[in-house]
Amino acid sequence: MAKVKKAEGKLGVMVVGLGAVTTTFMTGVLMARKGLTKPVGSMTQYDKIRVGQGADKQYLKYNEIVPLADLNDIEFAAWDVYPANAYESALNAEVLKERDIEPVKDELIAIRPLPAAFDHEYAKRLDGDNIMHGKTRWEMVEQLREDIRNFKKEKGVDRVVVLWAASTEVYVPVDEKVHGSLAAMEAAMKADDREHIAPSMCYAYAALAEGAPFIMGAPNTTVDFPAMWELAEKTRMPIAGKDFKTGQTLVKSGFAPIIGTRCLGLSGWFSTNILGNRDGLVLDEPANFRTKEVSKLSTLESILVPEEQPDLYTDYYHKVRINYYPPRNDNKEGWDNIDIFGWMGYPMQIKINFLCRDSILAAPLCLDLVLLSDLAARCGRYGTQEFLSFFLKSPMHDYTKGEVPVNHLFQQYVMLKNAIREMGGYPADEPID
Ligand SMILES: NC(=O)c1ccc[n+]([C@@H]2O[C@H](COP(=O)([O-])OP(=O)(O)OC[C@H]3O[C@@H](n4cnc5c(N)ncnc54)[C@H](O)[C@@H]3O)[C@@H](O)[C@H]2O)c1
Repeated sequence: MAKVKKAEGKLGVMVVGLGAVTTTFMTGVLMARKGLTKPVGSMTQYDKIRVGQGADKQYLKYNEIVPLADLNDIEFAAWDVYPANAYESALNAEVLKERDIEPVKDELIAIRPLPAAFDHEYAKRLDGDNIMHGKTRWEMVEQLREDIRNFKKEKGVDRVVVLWAASTEVYVPVDEKVHGSLAAMEAAMKADDREHIAPSMCYAYAALAEGAPFIMGAPNTTVDFPAMWELAEKTRMPIAGKDFKTGQTLVKSGFAPIIGTRCLGLSGWFSTNILGNRDGLVLDEPANFRTKEVSKLSTLESILVPEEQPDLYTDYYHKVRINYYPPRNDNKEGWDNIDIFGWMGYPMQIKINFLCRDSILAAPLCLDLVLLSDLAARCGRYGTQEFLSFFLKSPMHDYTKGEVPVNHLFQQYVMLKNAIREMGGYPADEPID
């Protein structure tokens, strides 16, 4: 293996938000390391990548190619607006059956959320009181940095990764004057500019400044602008985002290539969901839904590109809806209606009905994103980690340089495999077509 630091000591995983996704993630990891469940859906635990060609060809698991942290070495911590510990929160979320939580009850009870850096204006439907009161944005940063340092000291943790899987904040459009440079962003934080500095940006700043990779699992624009890229470069830390690619968008980014590969036309794609968990409640607020909508809409445009195939993809209508519907809780149901056209323009329809479980799909992504970000940091990789796009709905890209994100699931998979190969000292040997 080339120049990669070993995964020695404990890996601290600090999650922002102790809700449905993160408690499902933690419970699964704790149960798996007791041998009581299997981490199904996790690429780092199951997938095999080909290395070598011809007679030298072999298929290896990720940890046979690169040194990944072991599940036994993970130590969890969390911040949340509500004071419930991870056990109470896992029960409240009603994702997992009690019998799948009880065996790790003691470990979950010990995970008590630290007070959140929170601003009610960014998530109006939440009213918990486990928050840092009266802090300016800069004071939030300082408190979060102290939290990270304390966690490392108290738990004897060597490395930390910070993962945002908290509620979706209201949409913050990028403003060059504030988000265009690190100096401008720091000045805005010190001036307590609440309009342009979301609480999530304070978490990201604190993580990077403390030498921890930061992952944005919600659609927030937190690390999507030059000031954060500059900070990631300065601190030599990886960043990844945004928005876990779990249900409908996973299907979309895997299905759209079928249409594109067979040169069929598209006239419209309508996606709708019903969802009843707290995530759905927050997204019921139009300003919060806007953040999700922007993220979800971006998927098709770079797979079925009008400029490349004007006869097939000009002016297709793409619509995404999420409807809050409490009876379904975390068991989201998604419908996709796809209007395509074929030979001589004759129309056809495809319907997809996905009865999924949101947090069951998101938990393995949390694990993979955390382990691979930690790996990237140990390899000396910093800034936007494009190879992690595979896990994300709206991959980060440098739009100031005209970069177009890769949304095509199978191209993303090649990027992932090539990066693992390179970090393991093998050549990246698959072209991304
Ligand atoms: N489950 C999926 O398939 C999926 C896919 C993509 C993105 N996501 C995103 O993941 C996030 C988590 O989803 P969930 O179902 O676990 O939601 P959830 O509502 O169950 O949990 C989110 C938690 O974040 C907390 N929170 C909000 N703001 C906070 C802050 N500033 N600091 C600390 N804690 C804060 C809330 O109190 C809540 O407990 C959401 O943003 C969701 O959009 C989920």
